[in-house]
Amino acid sequence: MAASNQPTNTAAWLDEAGASFSIREAPMPEPGPDEVIIKTAALAVNPVDAARQALGFLIQSYPWIFGCDGAGVITAVGSDIRENDLKVGDRVIALSDEWSVHKPSHGMYQRYVAVSTKYTCKIPDAVSFEDGVVLPLGILTATSMMFEKDNLELSWPVDEEKGVTAPMGKGKPGTEKEVVVIWGGSSSVGACAVQLAKAAGYKVVGTARKVNFGLLEECGADATFDHTDEDVVDKLCKWVEERGLKLAGVAAAISSDDALSKCGLIAQRLDGMKWVSTSRAKGISPVPEMPEGVQASNALGIEEPELQEHIFKKWMSAALESRQLKCKPNANIVGTGLGSLDEACALMRKGVSGQKIVVKLE
Ligand SMILES: NC(=O)c1ccc[n+]([C@@H]2O[C@H](COP(=O)([O-])OP(=O)(O)OC[C@H]3O[C@@H](n4cnc5c(N)ncnc54)[C@H](OP(=O)(O)O)[C@@H]3O)[C@@H](O)[C@H]2O)c1
Repeated sequence: MAASNQPTNTAAWLDEAGASFSIREAPMPEPGPDEVIIKTAALAVNPVDAARQALGFLIQSYPWIFGCDGAGVITAVGSDIRENDLKVGDRVIALSDEWSVHKPSHGMYQRYVAVSTKYTCKIPDAVSFEDGVVLPLGILTATSMMFEKDNLELSWPVDEEKGVTAPMGKGKPGTEKEVVVIWGGSSSVGACAVQLAKAAGYKVVGTARKVNFGLLEECGADATFDHTDEDVVDKLCKWVEERGLKLAGVAAAISSDDALSKCGLIAQRLDGMKWVSTSRAKGISPVPEMPEGVQASNALGIEEPELQEHIFKKWMSAALESRQLKCKPNANIVGTGLGSLDEACALMRKGVSGQKIVVKLE
């Protein structure tokens, strides 16, 4: 019998909470009208992915396939996709929507995955899959925290070199006199938040341990303070006050109770927007009480279609080309093949510092 040339799909299946991944065949996904199929070449691990493997939450039934961040090449496009948007052969990074469409065909940890075009972004040839894959969930979460109407509602990022401007009413002059504080700037969400806030024209102050100050500098932070220093709140606030800057908001990429209590004190003390936007998931993880006069909010996905399009369809690709957006934090490639995802998730559960755990697939 002649061997079939049809490609087959392989996935990292989770058969029960806490189990190791089982690497075995999976159905070849078909694209819905506004979806593409990506042949994945690199995958990243986020805290939520590692927690899902261990605890099995947000899983409809077993066996299941999940995973947020992927990079690879488009192999098929849905009937509604315009060629000037995405086409077969495009190199892309993408964010899975498996958690909202509830289909294992959309979980990123497989070789062929169906993804919505909403969160799929072309990457330049100069950006490797392993580097690009560090970005999607970090960019999404940082965008939600900083630009959505229910959160800080900052001016949107632009890329002058590539001619990407903010839509009418979404950019404002004079943002240089305003500062955004990013708590946990060396995290994946934080490194994206620093870059997005800079691209929107703000002064940016971040926090990280000293070992990661260089990372924040590469992301464009104007100043960085050590979050393990007991005087961090005072030192950070003095830096802002001495420069006569107005607070545009605090974005807490790291949202532990301790981190949020410090963010609350910063927002209370500084002149300006008394708001702490947190990375705690909306509807899942409530925010603690803030000091008097300070509000806090959650993040989850991007609800405004215009904002989602601006970031994932306009700004990101352009900014990767102009190098305004860097693939930060750096990828730590822990292995090759879906079989490396167990080790990758185990490392993530131990905690990372200023890096993104990545698995190469080819
Ligand atoms: N709402 C959503 O939809 C959504 C989406 C994605 C992520 N999240 C959440 O966002 C958070 C960040 O995710 P991530 O992937 O960016 O995390 P990550 O990269 O794994 O975070 C690691 C970083 O956290 C920093 N950190 C640890 N404790 C800190 C503290 N007390 N203050 C400041 N920084 C601290 C460390 O900085 P140093 O090593 O420099 O100390 C380290 O670089 C997680 O809680 C995650 O669950 C939410």
